[in-house]
Amino acid sequence: MSEQDVTPNQTGQTGLLGQVTGLDDQYYMNVYGRRQPLCVVSGEGAWLTGSDGKRYLDLIGGIAVSVLGHAHPRLVQAICEQAGRVIHCSNYFYNEPQARLAERLAVLSGLDGARVFIGNSGAEANEAAIKLARAYFHHQGAPRARIVSALKSFHGRTLATATATGQDKYSAPFAPLPTGFVHVPYNDIAALEQAVDQNTCAVLLEVIQGESGVIMADPVYLKTAEALCRQTGARLIIDEIQTGMGRTGRFLAYEHAGLRPDIVTLAKGLAGGVPIGAMIANEETAAGFKPGDHGTTFGGNPLACAAALAVLDTYAQDQLVERAASVGAALKRQLLDLAERQPAIAEVRGLGLMLGIGLNVPGAQAVKASLLKQGFLVGSVGDTTIRLLPPLIVASADLSLFVRAFGETIAELAH
Ligand SMILES: Cc1ncc(COP(=O)(O)O)c(C=O)c1O
Repeated sequence: MSEQDVTPNQTGQTGLLGQVTGLDDQYYMNVYGRRQPLCVVSGEGAWLTGSDGKRYLDLIGGIAVSVLGHAHPRLVQAICEQAGRVIHCSNYFYNEPQARLAERLAVLSGLDGARVFIGNSGAEANEAAIKLARAYFHHQGAPRARIVSALKSFHGRTLATATATGQDKYSAPFAPLPTGFVHVPYNDIAALEQAVDQNTCAVLLEVIQGESGVIMADPVYLKTAEALCRQTGARLIIDEIQTGMGRTGRFLAYEHAGLRPDIVTLAKGLAGGVPIGAMIANEETAAGFKPGDHGTTFGGNPLACAAALAVLDTYAQDQLVERAASVGAALKRQLLDLAERQPAIAEVRGLGLMLGIGLNVPGAQAVKASLLKQGFLVGSVGDTTIRLLPPLIVASADLSLFVRAFGETIAELAH
């Protein structure tokens, strides 16, 4: 290490972490407000290694992305093999991984005559869904603009998806915003009934609101949304960007409620960390896009699609959806047991490996910081929710290690 390496930067960090935080402070756009003193250099399974050489159990999984953990041999092999053949060829031409992935997702969605569009992120998938719903009515000569979504939802950061997001902080700085978006309180059936009529273009909902703290939809609410869409012709869009890919113990979380949406969006874990997003629509709705209506340069390229196919093959081989259900249920039980002994824990919410631990007293940030020091990476929402979105391959023994450390940390919080 050179002299320069050990000179603390403005934040007092030394070594590679000091260099990286120094560069980030100076050159990276200041949008993340990053404060956690960790620079990731590698990973294996559910564990990440920092520039300090320390190992961290990754219980946030790159925000629900690293479903196979890190450096999964099958995913690495698929990416390397595809990179050695062709990474990108544009959508002027066909490519086999894209066609095979479209088939897999169409079947997995369970939608009638499903068709798939592949982009690069969750926001793009939702943007495509909103455009498709509008185009569906436009091409019928009876345009409808209104998109109804829920308060406290999160749908992305493009202008339309930030506007659909039911939290002002994500859209207010970017006014004027696209028109036609209305928000209703989540799980409020009467409000939904009032908002949805013959002029409604689409209802856009998450099955569990992840970004606002793992808030679950009542299945009756979701079925009401579906019925209202059937009555009025509005398209039902279910955003499975965080809940999909088996995270809740079913491949798509809407399966728990027996829903049949018109459009479903996926991203996050679909390609195990390679950027990708998918918008899947039933045959009737998909007819709303004509050639030229939508497209992308990168979306659906052979590399991302080969990665997604490797992820889906691994899911099938290792039964990872079933694993998320059983390992998640066991983790929830352990956390509920802990809650009985630790009054600082108010509740444990969520399904499968998508869990939120609600605290009775503010302290989530302090708990997160303490767990980081102990080698556990967790997420937080505000100061009263700890959020867990671990890889679906996480070992039960590692989760038990976490529960013990979390119990000790939360006990300190109560003092
Ligand atoms: C439910 C939901 N929708 C959409 C998005 C946006 O996805 P991306 O960040 O890939 O654009 C997210 C991201 O957190 C999400 O959780």
